[in-house]
Amino acid sequence: MKFFIDTANVDEIREANEWGILSGVTTNPSLIAKSGRNFTEVLREIVDIVDGSVSAEVLSDDAEGMLAEAKPLASISEQITIKVPMTAEGLKAVHRFSQQGIKTNVTLVFSVNQALMAARAGATYVSPFIGRLDDLGHDGVQLIGEIAEVFDLHGVETEIIAASVRHPLHVTQAAESGAHIATLPYAVMEKMLRHPLTDQGIERFKKDWEQANKG
Ligand code: E4P
Repeated sequence: MKFFIDTANVDEIREANEWGILSGVTTNPSLIAKSGRNFTEVLREIVDIVDGSVSAEVLSDDAEGMLAEAKPLASISEQITIKVPMTAEGLKAVHRFSQQGIKTNVTLVFSVNQALMAARAGATYVSPFIGRLDDLGHDGVQLIGEIAEVFDLHGVETEIIAASVRHPLHVTQAAESGAHIATLPYAVMEKMLRHPLTDQGIERFKKDWEQANKG
């Protein structure tokens, strides 16, 4: 399973990219709004930092509007993946984008059927939101496994991005369930790399070394 970072914060992207673990970035309108910056400007910076897919979401309700919105975004870089909501109009747009060779990420996916329809429309990626399903008392990780099984069974090449990831256990479970990618908030990445025994071990090694080399 590969890692994308789910943020529009350029400092976080730069830091995680230096760790060498990033294969891409996802943004959404809420994350862009949180950054307080101009959408196009942020996207230009991100594609310069990360070597991989960068999802930029369209907001129109109709396919024509989505296509129009995507044009300037796609012209920023070939890395730009157009993020489209899982609606009938979204599917129309995905179909048209795939004919034009533009990559798409179908977002707000909450069922196997939605994932399969998005894939058949030509989506490059589907994004099941596991945390938001958990919030409603459903099992988000289970959905990842079900989509992976159906895609596998029917030879679907669309990649599954585990999205709305809230904690490190989600990440492990998404990997075990067959997600191709997990898109992670920076805070989750930080938690993943830490372990108290690692910190204690470093501390002990340093102390032992100082002790042995005293005087
Ligand atoms: C994914 O592409 C979305 O941007 C994101 O994972 C949504 O996460 P949230 O449910 O924490 O807002």
